[in-house]
This record gives sequence, C-alpha cells and structure tokens, in this order.
Amino acid sequence: MSTFKSVETRYLEERRHLFRGLRNLDRRSFLKVSAAALGATAGLAAPHSFTPVSVALGAEEAEAKPAFRFAYISDSHLYQRDVNDRFVRGLLRAVDDVNNLDPQPDFVFYGGDLAQLGQAKELDLGAEILKNLKAPLRIMVGEHDWYLDMGQKWQELFGKPTYSFDHKGVHFVVLMSVVEKDFWTARKLSPMDRMKTVAGLDNGFQSPFTVGEAQRKWLADDLAKLPDDAKIIVFSHSPLYKLYKPWNFWTDDAEEVQAILQRFKQVVVIHGHTHQLLTNRIGNIHFHGLLSTAWPWPYAPEGMPELTIEMSRPDPFNPNDGCGDGEVHVHADGLVDKIYNLWNRNPITVAKGYTESRGKECVPPQPNRPAY
Ligand SMILES: [Fe+2]
Ligand SMILES: [Fe+2]
Repeated sequence: MSTFKSVETRYLEERRHLFRGLRNLDRRSFLKVSAAALGATAGLAAPHSFTPVSVALGAEEAEAKPAFRFAYISDSHLYQRDVNDRFVRGLLRAVDDVNNLDPQPDFVFYGGDLAQLGQAKELDLGAEILKNLKAPLRIMVGEHDWYLDMGQKWQELFGKPTYSFDHKGVHFVVLMSVVEKDFWTARKLSPMDRMKTVAGLDNGFQSPFTVGEAQRKWLADDLAKLPDDAKIIVFSHSPLYKLYKPWNFWTDDAEEVQAILQRFKQVVVIHGHTHQLLTNRIGNIHFHGLLSTAWPWPYAPEGMPELTIEMSRPDPFNPNDGCGDGEVHVHADGLVDKIYNLWNRNPITVAKGYTESRGKECVPPQPNRPAY
C-alpha cells in the first residue's frame, strides 16, 4: 500500500495531534505542542522571530537603555477547539516567542479579545495557553470576551476588568473601554445574539464603545494622588480617541477621558482592538496600537493618524502576515519604544523619539513587503 498522504490528510492528522496535545497542557507538554503548531508554518518564518531591538533603532536611540520592558500579546480571537485551529496556533506561537525572550520581560500584557464569542470553552482554552507564559501576566478585556455572559466567565478567570498597579515608578491603569449601552433588552436578543451583534461591525444598532461615567470617576480618583509629572501608562482595548466609527475604532467618551489625563506632562495609552500598526499623538498623550495574533484589520478608509507607519496590505496567501506580538520598552521619563514583532516581516520599532518629535526624528523604516 502506498504511504502517500494528501495535503488534507496531513493537515487533519496535524490538527488532531495539536488538539490532543492541548487537552492536558502543562509546562512540559506546552513545548511539544507549540513546536508542533509552529511546524505548520515552517519555511515561512523562523520559529522565534524576535530580532535584537538595537538593530531596528538609530544608533542614538539604541544607546538609551530602557528602564524596563514588558511584552505584549493581543487579540487572539480563539474559537472553541473543535472549530478553528489557526488562531490557537497563533496564540501558541506568541507565547513561545515571548518565552524565548532573553532576558525575560518584567511581565506580559494581554490586550483583550482572547475569545471570539465569549464562550467559557474559548476563554478556558486561552487561559490554559497563557498559563504557560514564564513571566507574570496582566490582562485586559475586549468586547469579544464580554458580551455573551456580560463578563462573568472572564472575571472568574482573570478578576476585575478595571484596575491599576505600580511598577518601577510607573503607574499603570487598565480600563474596560468597551462598555455599550443596552441595545439588547428592548430587542429581546438572546445572549448569543447580543454577542454576535457586538462581534459584527456595521450593523447600525449597537452602541459605540465607552469607558462610561462610573469608570471615568474611578480613573479621576485613581489618578488624584499623583503629581503632574507622574509616569502613567493606560491600557484600553479600543483606542481612546475617535478614529473610525463604523468599525468601532472609536471610544465615544474619548475626549472626557483625555481631559482627565490632560494635567499630566505626558501619558502613554496602549490599546488593542485595531489589529495593526497604529500610532497617534494628541497633545500630551502618545497612543500605540497592538498587533493581533489572529488577523490584521485593513486601515480605516478615511485615513489614519499622521504618525502611523502603515504596513502594506498583508499577503493574502499567508495567514500569518500582518500578525504578531511584541515588546514595550519603558524609558525613565515614562515614554516608550513600541516594538512590533511582525511574523512575516522585519520587526518595526516606533521609538519614543518619534512620537516625542512628532515624527521628525527616529522615523521607523517602512515595512519590507510589497503591496498586494
Ligand atoms: Fe480584536
Ligand atoms: Fe476588539
């Protein structure tokens, strides 16, 4: 009998193997499972694709050592394990990337949308994979994690969605920026229909994201004790500015949140949700978007903030292109270098000097891919 196996047979075998391995995912089996997951992308990229950051920086910037660094992973959009394996492989790859950083980052920040439809099995799977990170995990909620059971399962796994912590002289704030007004009760939507409405775009009746009055009050109180020159980094899932409403690249009370941050000399806001290289600056606030491990969104059709280094359109034949993870290097003044570890391209660093000079200095190289 012939030993020939078709592409489909090999794929299904690999997939079975992956999910079998995921069933009891402890530290030791993580390495085996993640290696198998990476096997599927062999030939497209080196398995551990981080490049020393100094390579991507100008000489001057490379000399300025950060005070500390943390890694980030975001927007994995996990489906339950028997539906989709590609996004599972993406998250495994990101965890593997981050675990291979030497030295290890102080912590890993997860930027929200761990699940696709907020289901317990999706969130459990994500938590199980993230448990294999060597560095401590900090996590934020995304709209895909929340609107099936209004955050019940996510909070069982990860605690409160709004909190702050201090690390090496920097005050970190984590917000739940995807609060929506109740559009479901009057329409008698089931929890899953509510979830699918939020997960979809352009439907015309869900409400735009907000931080909301209660959290704005909490934020003002949390920051009240800090001096004007405090170093502050805020995490929000949606960008804390108004970019493109039809896709919910938007926080409806952004101006009110910015007003709370206005008295500080400078503030960094890091957000998920937009799945792309995205940089902005409004007054004293420097904004950076996170990459997704699942898919890249296209750029909003009405144009992007001036400081954004737009990556060219991802290769439609390579599902990993435009995806990735990365690092944030925090400097003594509280500003950051943002490292985009793109899986299919050279890493791109948006250095602090770039947003500080409003794009005049430390201009990052353009992404090394042709447009498709
Ligand atoms: Fe997302
Ligand atoms: Fe999102």
